[in-house]
Amino acid sequence: MALLARIIGNIVIFTFLAGLVIVCCEMIWYRMPERGRKRYSGNNAQKRVVIITGATSGLGREYAYLADIRLKGIDEIWLVARRADKLQETAVRMRHVVKCLSYDLTRTSSVMELTRLIQRKDIRIRYLINCAGTAKMGTTKSITISDQTDMTALNCTAAVRLTDACLPYMKSGDHIVNVCSTAAFQPMQRLNVYASTKAYMLRYTRALRMELLPEKIVVTAVCPYWIKDTEFIEKAEEAGSASVHSYPLASKVASVAAVSMIGIRMGLPVVTPGIVCTIHRIFSGLLPDTVLQYIWELLRRI
Ligand SMILES: NC(=O)c1ccc[n+]([C@@H]2O[C@H](COP(=O)([O-])OP(=O)(O)OC[C@H]3O[C@@H](n4cnc5c(N)ncnc54)[C@H](OP(=O)(O)O)[C@@H]3O)[C@@H](O)[C@H]2O)c1
Repeated sequence: MALLARIIGNIVIFTFLAGLVIVCCEMIWYRMPERGRKRYSGNNAQKRVVIITGATSGLGREYAYLADIRLKGIDEIWLVARRADKLQETAVRMRHVVKCLSYDLTRTSSVMELTRLIQRKDIRIRYLINCAGTAKMGTTKSITISDQTDMTALNCTAAVRLTDACLPYMKSGDHIVNVCSTAAFQPMQRLNVYASTKAYMLRYTRALRMELLPEKIVVTAVCPYWIKDTEFIEKAEEAGSASVHSYPLASKVASVAAVSMIGIRMGLPVVTPGIVCTIHRIFSGLLPDTVLQYIWELLRRI
């Protein structure tokens, strides 16, 4: 038994270290100068753009402010969400040229319109940050089918469509960021469709990263734990308030944004911006889903 435990322990440590080495190699690769190709040195005709969805509140708004202050070599920031007045509120605090794009991303027609806007311009997209997201808590049966499909349309389809639209306008050194969640790490009853959309996005992001590795377009998934000071939980609770009783050790949006922005700029594959989500990520790799689901069952009742 002791031998078995030692073997399993060694395998875990070895695979963890191997993962660490691979990520370090990837980060070195992203920073290696390209042979035969000149590094992008600015082209007046081509605007360097950052696109952030979900920029009217919470994490998306924080990313907008951080991009405005921290990101170098950008000309315009495009903010996307439904509420035009809130987009303006975000934009007035920013120094860069900001384009406010009021679109409902659950609608295919809106996403297509946004796509056409991207295609019409002579631009280079330095960052695409897919942050718009929505959740509804409750049993799957209790959530209306329109809420369920809206979650899928916004959290998955819109992000995939926007990525597809932006990719032709991205080059070496540019970034795609998909805001997922710690909910991506395991199945979650009473948060089923939401957790499933985030699991989809985490897999999609990781595979896309590998595909774009030769082009040095950096793809990162951000997986935060509960963030209390955004509109997210209040809206999620509208459907089934009894599903999660409390949010112990919930994080703050400013720290989630700041920590994840460091990870994004480093070029990490997955950023868990906090202690709880980091622990969850580690245990989700070690424990079977059934055990994780019962732990979640316990936690959501506390
Ligand atoms: N808060 C958490 O506990 C938590 C934890 C883990 C992961 N996340 C993820 O973090 C991301 C940001 O969440 P948050 O906490 O910042 O939530 P939030 O404050 O509710 O922000 C959500 C953003 O998405 C936009 N949005 C919602 N529906 C939209 C639609 N149909 N079309 C276009 N934009 C839409 C909202 O703007 P409009 O309403 O103006 O459209 C808003 O700007 C989400 O992807 C979420 O899944 C959140």
